[in-house]
Amino acid sequence: MTTAPTPLPADPRHWHDVPHAPLPGTVLGHAHTLADGSVTMAETPDTPGRDGMGVFRYLLLRSGSDVRAYVNRCAHFGVPLAARQDLLKFQPHVRVSCNVHYAHYRWSDGLCTAGDCEGESLLAIPVVIDVDGTIRIAA
Ligand code: FES
Repeated sequence: MTTAPTPLPADPRHWHDVPHAPLPGTVLGHAHTLADGSVTMAETPDTPGRDGMGVFRYLLLRSGSDVRAYVNRCAHFGVPLAARQDLLKFQPHVRVSCNVHYAHYRWSDGLCTAGDCEGESLLAIPVVIDVDGTIRIAA
């Protein structure tokens, strides 16, 4: 007997509620490939998640030895912050912006500090970094 997956919420409050959220332990990238002060748009290949196979879009932000990961999903309309890496707007170490209606998200915690979704946040993904720089979703 198989168990049907739990329905996903339309307005996710946690990274793991987003469709195709990968499982803990999934590799998101490598710290040594991220320039200091950069924001990198990335996505998983078709990987197994809680709700089956699919692509999951995320952002990696590096500030010194600190690496943060957020779901690439604007809190305003639920769309990616940019369609392509070269269109992504950010101020290194300070903020990343949505280029649809220009909401500003604080680098350190993803809080929207200006824009149509002020007070809401990007969905943070907990990560751990292995000694070789591999970035994984924390358990
Ligand atoms: S969709 Fe991002 S600010 Fe409106």
